[in-house]
Amino acid sequence: MTDYGKLLEMAIKDLDKSYVPYSHFHCSAALLCSDGTIVKGVNIENAAYTPTICAERCAFFKAVSEGHRDFVAIAVVGCSEEALESGEYKEGHLAGEYGNSGPCGVCRQVMQEFCDPDKFDIILGRSATDYKVFKLKEMYPYGFGPADLGIK
Ligand code: THU
Repeated sequence: MTDYGKLLEMAIKDLDKSYVPYSHFHCSAALLCSDGTIVKGVNIENAAYTPTICAERCAFFKAVSEGHRDFVAIAVVGCSEEALESGEYKEGHLAGEYGNSGPCGVCRQVMQEFCDPDKFDIILGRSATDYKVFKLKEMYPYGFGPADLGIK
């Protein structure tokens, strides 16, 4: 299995870049493109709530807008305000049990648009050595994608 430790560490490192004055829940993602480029994203909230963007979609939209279309994997992490302020998150104390939670449905749908569900890896974890790898298909079975509209 691919070693995704570095990708996960990159996501953890950027947790303090998220803009979360409403939920106080920090999310960060690192998206690995097939050419080896890594594009990062964080959640950015908004006073009108619905314009809020998740870390995963932030990373995908940044990447696509920079010309990337082929993706290998995304590492996703989240932590509370307390964990961020105490620095605990750096020791791997991330909120949420990975394996029991993951990207929201809207982000999974965006992944489905650009990725092969049988191949694309979603990495959830706490540290470079403590993580789990899921295929998009496991997290988003029977998803609707471009192929369903006859588009390759
Ligand atoms: N959020 C993400 O950025 N990614 C996820 O996978 C789940 C939720 C954000 C959205 C919102 O800013 C905050 O976490 C609380 O829902």
